[in-house]
Amino acid sequence: MDEIENIQIDSLGDWKRTHDCGSLRAEDVGQEALLMGWVNSRRDLGNLIFIDLRNRGGITQIVFDPQLEEESHNRAHILRNEWVLAVKGKVTPRLEGQENQDLPTGAIELKVTQLKILNRTEVPPFQVDGMVDASETLRLKYRYLELRRQKIFKNFQKRHHITSCIREYLNEKGFIEVETPFLTKSTPEGARDYLVPSRVNKGQFYALPQSPQLFKQLLMIGGFERYYQVVRCFRDEDLRADRQPEFTQVDMELAFTNEEEVMEICEGMMATLFSKVMGRALSEPIPRLPYQEVMDRFGTDRPDLRFGMELKEITEFLKESEFKSFRRVVEEGGVVKAINVDKGATSFSRKGLDELTRLVIDWGGKGLAWIKVTEDGWQSSLSKFFSDEEKEAINKQLDGSPGDLYLIVADQSPVANEALGMLRGEVARRLNRIKEGDFAFVWVNRFPLLAYNETEGRLEAVHHPFTAPLEEDLSLLQDQPEKVRARSYDLVLNGTEIGGGSVRIHQISMQQEMFKILGIPQKEAERKFGFLLEALKYGAPPHGGIAFGLDRLVAILTGVDSIREIIAFPKTQRATCPLTDAPSGVGEDQLEELGLRTRQE
Ligand code: AMO
Repeated sequence: MDEIENIQIDSLGDWKRTHDCGSLRAEDVGQEALLMGWVNSRRDLGNLIFIDLRNRGGITQIVFDPQLEEESHNRAHILRNEWVLAVKGKVTPRLEGQENQDLPTGAIELKVTQLKILNRTEVPPFQVDGMVDASETLRLKYRYLELRRQKIFKNFQKRHHITSCIREYLNEKGFIEVETPFLTKSTPEGARDYLVPSRVNKGQFYALPQSPQLFKQLLMIGGFERYYQVVRCFRDEDLRADRQPEFTQVDMELAFTNEEEVMEICEGMMATLFSKVMGRALSEPIPRLPYQEVMDRFGTDRPDLRFGMELKEITEFLKESEFKSFRRVVEEGGVVKAINVDKGATSFSRKGLDELTRLVIDWGGKGLAWIKVTEDGWQSSLSKFFSDEEKEAINKQLDGSPGDLYLIVADQSPVANEALGMLRGEVARRLNRIKEGDFAFVWVNRFPLLAYNETEGRLEAVHHPFTAPLEEDLSLLQDQPEKVRARSYDLVLNGTEIGGGSVRIHQISMQQEMFKILGIPQKEAERKFGFLLEALKYGAPPHGGIAFGLDRLVAILTGVDSIREIIAFPKTQRATCPLTDAPSGVGEDQLEELGLRTRQE
């Protein structure tokens, strides 16, 4: 240990790299090269010492040979993983049979003639190069070590490439990037706000923006016409694999526009990304499906179109059914819906089907019925309850043939749709029906404008309160507000909502009416959104826009499971940062200055 602590650390001096660790090839043999990087692994054979030197560009094998240069060789015995080195040497071919096909630099090695030890390290808490067996908290605490992994760096390079392409594309289309405030007032996007106390105005708070929604509308009123921003948004909500408390949006807004133009621009953007980043063509145009239709066909507003097994309704064939549970549901105004797992009759054991049933119950359903279609007819405990005509009608509706498996849920429509929609995804995953590398986009539009919030006993905006209603539904606004559809649209990719937007209300009278319908008293509307209402008085152009969740988009395009993988310093599921230990307590003096007191529980 003393030996390590006493090791002499060299200064970089005027040394300059000639290559990175991934770039030397057989053609470079004979050249002098100067490399810098970290010790990825080492093999000390006594006489020869081999080190894999790594930087973000790749790995090169370097060799210390006493015959070539004794001093470096002597010092090299002490090197350990993750030490930082600079080496000068000669590019040499590897001995025959020693080439490494897995490395782009595998045909050569660098014979070291001069070594500088730029830094040493304590034993890292986990191996940088190797299996990730550390817990997430440990990995995040030492995130900078994990970031050294080449695979991770490649993901960030891709993220950078995606962001650059988006910027280039939008710049070309006449958008300009404008920054909007972080210390601001609440924007209602459906989550809780992160609040920042004001020292100068004690007892008052800024809210960190859940999105730049209102500012981008003000920019349209300000005549900017085409705005975008790659911007951080802050939402205090329950976290999941695709949700972080701070995340990045590609936010945009256009004046004098309609949904058609917004969608067209976004499709162009996706096509550009696919060709430039993924090296493949995107089949345009992206299908557009109204909300009601996707709910009926897929049971979710984020349908995954990479596989079939659409939901089909069979209620009408079961009105007279002798199977009491189905008939009762139908009599109570519910529906019976099914998916046909094509050639799935032998895919699930009894235990597997029981598992699926338990999942359906977890998702709020009453249970799951199943039927295996065989050459000799239905194989199911339900079979005896159905007449031949009923069976035939159902087979026809589900497009079934021998070898198929029907999974059936009977319930009130929203419950049946949701449970069967989730089941559809689960079955596809379990049976590997999703082809890797497949991408399926779909626009979902014409969402309901409003939805009833049972807990609060009032209507709330499905997108946000600034979304315009569909003109043809305006007459329903007073008496049947829940039937009104919105001029909104979400872009869904592989079952994830990657973006959402709408055409906005640009007339003050309509905006005031909307607040009224949402049960927001005039005074409160003035207090919260007075600045928007004021601005709408001064010639607001028709406008609309969209925001993409950049993290989600990058995660899908890089094929990682969680957006945490492609955020440099993400938070845990509990919104903490193990690296900096945020959030943390603050001193009494700081609280005092802000006029705050914390409650001691
Ligand atoms: P919305 O709330 O739908 O719309 O957000 C737009 C997109 O942002 C992504 N997203 C998130 N990503 C990671 N973590 C989160 N917590 C998170 N929340 C949302 C999603 C989503 O589609 N102002 C409107 C846009 C508009 O109307 O123009 C807005 O923010 O991919």
